[in-house]
Amino acid sequence: MRTLMLGFSLIVMTGGASAAQVTIDEDYMQTMEDRQKSLSKNIGVQNAQGANEDVKELEDMFGEVEDYYVHKGNATDAVDWSKDSKDLSIAIEKYVAAKDFDNATVAATTLAKTCKACHRVYKKDKEKK
Ligand code: HEC
Repeated sequence: MRTLMLGFSLIVMTGGASAAQVTIDEDYMQTMEDRQKSLSKNIGVQNAQGANEDVKELEDMFGEVEDYYVHKGNATDAVDWSKDSKDLSIAIEKYVAAKDFDNATVAATTLAKTCKACHRVYKKDKEKK
């Protein structure tokens, strides 16, 4: 239900053309990596409050990444991976709230694979992480 509502509000936002635009660059991604590492650590030590802060921030960021690629155009895969990542973040948020750290760990591992999937295609660097 939450996912549906989020999807809807995104459509409304992009339709209004006033959504804040971010640029997906090294700085932005570094922030994302810091958050993801912090999230894994907090799930590992079962720090529900810390994990909740991290995952909420990631949800927002993946929304921005999705928006970026929607506007950029011709990047269907990147849009899909951003959506998947946001959905996974929402799932993690729920697991953490229920103190189900096992499933939170599984979802966080899938999330990390999604980062790599996007990098393989969209990150044209010498060292692909
Ligand atoms: C939808 C696509 C996409 C997703 C999803 C994504 N990234 Fe990235 N990432 C990129 C792109 C594009 C770059 C290259 C940016 C640049 O150098 O301009 C990048 C670069 C990076 C870098 C290298 C920054 C540097 O200093 O060169 C790190 C670290 C990184 N991402 C971490 C992550 C993590 C962690 C996740 C998942 C939580 C993630 N990314 C998810 C597209 C994505």
